[in-house]
Amino acid sequence: MRFQRQRGTQDILPEQARQWQALDRSLRRTLAAFDYGEIRTPLFEDTQLFVRGVGSDTDIVQKEMYTFVDRKGRSLSLRPEGTAAVVRAYLENQMGHEGGVRRLFYIGPMYRYDRPQAGRFREFFQLGAEAIGSAEPEQDVEIIDLMMTALAQLPMPGLEVEVNSVGHPECRAAYETRLRQALASERTALCGTCQERIDANPMRVFDCKNEACRPVVQRLPRMREHLCAECSAHHDVVLAGLRELGIPHRENSTIVRGLDYYTRTAFEVHYPPLGAQSALGGGGRYDGLVEACGGPPTPGVGFSAGLERILFALEKTHAPAVATEDRIVILPLDRERRLQALQLAHALRELGPTAVDLSGRSLKSQLRAAGRSGARVAVILGAEDRSADEAVVRDLSVGVQAVHERTGVVAAVRALFQGQGG
Ligand code: HAM
Repeated sequence: MRFQRQRGTQDILPEQARQWQALDRSLRRTLAAFDYGEIRTPLFEDTQLFVRGVGSDTDIVQKEMYTFVDRKGRSLSLRPEGTAAVVRAYLENQMGHEGGVRRLFYIGPMYRYDRPQAGRFREFFQLGAEAIGSAEPEQDVEIIDLMMTALAQLPMPGLEVEVNSVGHPECRAAYETRLRQALASERTALCGTCQERIDANPMRVFDCKNEACRPVVQRLPRMREHLCAECSAHHDVVLAGLRELGIPHRENSTIVRGLDYYTRTAFEVHYPPLGAQSALGGGGRYDGLVEACGGPPTPGVGFSAGLERILFALEKTHAPAVATEDRIVILPLDRERRLQALQLAHALRELGPTAVDLSGRSLKSQLRAAGRSGARVAVILGAEDRSADEAVVRDLSVGVQAVHERTGVVAAVRALFQGQGG
């Protein structure tokens, strides 16, 4: 019997893993520069954490969680997102005790029983950042600045953030009443899903992709016009901050997000060439979440971005792939050279990842394999017409080679990497 990977999951093979690692390094550089500290939380949590945190009416909780009962009868779920888990850890580890703002980030797999398609997986990786402890609108600006700066390093030109305010629970409740009235009067023109949403979660109709619903949705009253004075002032400061920092953005009153914890600022960044799953990342403020998870009233704001989508976007733009290191392969052509090769590899590893081909194949096959592996340099030991102390250093990117004393190989490869030729 042969096994296959589960739908919506991926094997990341070494060539792709190098891209993942380069992305990881780039993201971590930005996060460190903004002074966010890494937090690692478990892959599974008490199911109720997500029911209370993300919201019992959301698609994530209703349809998409991997929930199971453990041997003691407890209901556990694989984490569908990181924010609720970070808030749980923040409370459990008393991270708020010293006051001030805790700035945290995570990079890791999340699990959602979504319908798999391009850019949508059941196991996917997110980068997320959370700033817990500040209610100030400038904290929202910092989080958006962090997300856009992290993406700008990759590089991904032309990105802009779409920003909205979903108000706070009181002004939103008043708005939702208005919205329900407006939707009820046009109920028959709406798709089945939107009809169901009228009672449970009317703002989600803004997320509907159904063409038939569009004319109705366009006529609906918008949250922006129903914000209370404080929420409106908060939103204005966020917008002014984005302008001031030169962060490309536009207001989009249809951004409502698929998670229930948001208050005030909600934002997304899309990359249209990705098609239906164009959201690279999103987030917002969640001033009620810490309390919903059993803590004292504590404001917070954060974002997450999908790493598969970022890598896919980089491929699509043909942006120079995230820089990878120059790699070296040593090809010993007879048994006597193999230990020499293993020894020489130690010195070459100072310059870049180095592997020795111990397959015992012919030079031709070894060179072909070296080319396919993406190595930049091949060092050949034991070539027929060379003396025992000589080595051939071949630049595989241009197919040019030169003969060196074995003791001079490291210097030759270094010169080649520094662009001075072999
Ligand atoms: P989210 O919008 O559900 O927000 O997910 C954030 C990002 O994760 C999406 O924009 C997308 O790039 C990626 N993503 C989501 N689902 C999938 C999937 N099935 N396959 C591939 N990628 C996916 C959150 O998760 C919030 N925790 C964000 C946040 C942090 N809000 C405040 N702090």
